[in-house]
Amino acid sequence: MTTDPQMLGETLKVAEAKLEAAGCDTPRGDAQWIAAYVLGGNRTSVLAHPERVLTPDERKQVESLITRRAGREPLAYVLGTVVFRGLELEIGPGCLVPRPETEVTAERAIFRARALGRRATVVDVGTGCGPIALSVAAEVPDARVFATEISGAARGWCLRNLARTGLRVTLLPGDLFDPLHPALGGAVDIIVSNPPYIADDDIALLPDEVRKFEPRDALKGGPDGLDVVMRLLEEVPRWLAVGGWLVVEVGADQAEKVGKLLEMVGYTEATVTHDLAGRPRVVEGRWMGV
Ligand SMILES: C[S@@+](CC[C@H](N)C(=O)[O-])C[C@H]1O[C@@H](n2cnc3c(N)ncnc32)[C@H](O)[C@@H]1O
Repeated sequence: MTTDPQMLGETLKVAEAKLEAAGCDTPRGDAQWIAAYVLGGNRTSVLAHPERVLTPDERKQVESLITRRAGREPLAYVLGTVVFRGLELEIGPGCLVPRPETEVTAERAIFRARALGRRATVVDVGTGCGPIALSVAAEVPDARVFATEISGAARGWCLRNLARTGLRVTLLPGDLFDPLHPALGGAVDIIVSNPPYIADDDIALLPDEVRKFEPRDALKGGPDGLDVVMRLLEEVPRWLAVGGWLVVEVGADQAEKVGKLLEMVGYTEATVTHDLAGRPRVVEGRWMGV
């Protein structure tokens, strides 16, 4: 570590090299995000002023965050926030980082809620820091939104995001649907979930950022990854109104199977939506009662 003044351009080069050597996927972008965070600008302003001389304090901060990232801590944990469908959400240890593909899951729930043509009741199961529930609340302002979450740490982040955004979501602690008031039975229009769906054996194959830092309980889905998905399929009919929708995110290799399962257990209009990378990810089905 040097304490001499250093120009931003050089700092970025050194940081990028350190992140690349550590095996980070996007070393240049990550170095720029971290510098922008410390200097209070954005990536463009960082790139526009390579001649800027950092104060010793700024350099120390950049170096400390780069060291965390080089230890493969997720960038979102290092920066403390992530942007999801235009909402800046707080995030940190103990909670899964919302992913871009989940924006599509939220979009499908929002589409279904808007298409209803009346006030929708929406439940987000396993809300984490709240990205889906908060997006629904933001984009369908008259929706009545409930969110359940079993992890106390994740609920802590969700509570921060509720306070930060001022959006109205009823956050309930507990297992899947257990915390819902019985009066909601048969009265929910949309159930949306991004449940844990990684097959147990695949956990070891995940990148260090995920495997070493993100909570296991947010990932692990049993031998074929579908333990929680199957529980959802079993319990959803008790809560959905006739004509209501289940919207569930799964792994790309699971979408076809889950779509077929939905049809087998009596859902109609089963559809699969692809994520931004073109992978089949979001499965939907309509519950018309038995
Ligand atoms: C894949 S993460 C998704 C988090 C967030 N919805 C998102 O999309 O970023 C799954 C979440 O479900 C929660 N979870 C796992 N099992 C649960 C259960 N049985 N009941 C309620 N929440 C559960 C985990 O704690 C985790 O926050």
